[in-house]
Amino acid sequence: MRVATETKTAAERLVQRKHLLGLEEMTKEEILLILDTAKSFKEIFTRSVKKVPTLRGKTVVNLFFENSTRTRTSFEIAAKRLSADVVNFSVSTSSVTKGETLLDTARTIEAMGADFIVMRHGTSGAPWFLSRRNRAAVINAGDGTHEHPTQGLLDAYTILEHKKRFEGLKVVILGDISHSRVARSNIWALTKLGAQVTICGPRTLIPSSFADYGVRVSYDLKEAISDADVINLLRIQLERQQRNLFPSIREYRLLYQINEQRLAMAKPDVLIMHPGPINRGVEISQEVADGPHSVILEQVTNGVAVRMAVLYLLAGSRGLDEAEED
Ligand code: CP
Repeated sequence: MRVATETKTAAERLVQRKHLLGLEEMTKEEILLILDTAKSFKEIFTRSVKKVPTLRGKTVVNLFFENSTRTRTSFEIAAKRLSADVVNFSVSTSSVTKGETLLDTARTIEAMGADFIVMRHGTSGAPWFLSRRNRAAVINAGDGTHEHPTQGLLDAYTILEHKKRFEGLKVVILGDISHSRVARSNIWALTKLGAQVTICGPRTLIPSSFADYGVRVSYDLKEAISDADVINLLRIQLERQQRNLFPSIREYRLLYQINEQRLAMAKPDVLIMHPGPINRGVEISQEVADGPHSVILEQVTNGVAVRMAVLYLLAGSRGLDEAEED
């Protein structure tokens, strides 16, 4: 495994880091180390046998309290490609429905020998809560509206693969910023890596606190996308909205949808990204979602490599080894 010289310090730091909770607390060097490691793992994807023995004997439990297609499946494939045993915990058919608490559920899973708990929860901060009370390594797979670190990492990886740099790159994050953990993790990663991030969307979907995050705020789509190298689109998260924050989906589409007409206002080599799930015909048109600028499915592929890198690097952590010796 090649680890660039300039990221050696980050390697040492990550070897001591037991959990992956958020990108706000990670350094630029740690993020670069994960991206560099993911690149090595992606090379495995072209082999006929896409498997390495790195995590043989380890158990990864996917503990998802919210629905997921990409993240849960991606972690499962990543862990299996590293030869770990994987258990998918289904909350809807579990004793959570009988009133068991998050902590009791996690401790029960841990008592069966889980080394990693990959966790998605509707409450912001839930993975931090668990990481302080459990022995297993906790990986945040999305907590409320707070962070989705592996999505932020796979988005950064995809940008680097196409644009070959972060420094000075203009990235627009467009849509429902307010309810988006993806937006927050992208902002933490990309600003640390040197990109110029603009957030754009209706005023009611951009909290004023974002002005402190080192990003530019724009409510004017045309102005925001005119010199963008990357446009990362977000879904309107109606399920998290307590009240109507814009008049209608129709109006949102008229003002903020990226369609072919709007794409023509951007740079010819602009990259169109979306974490998924996409709402075709709302934030993105059919033609753009499936068009030549779109790297949406590449993001999904890269997610497996990035999650393999995260599991691999955390498995080397002192904390996990100590847990084994307990
Ligand atoms: N991007 C993402 O988190 O998708 P899922 O909700 O399908 O995991």
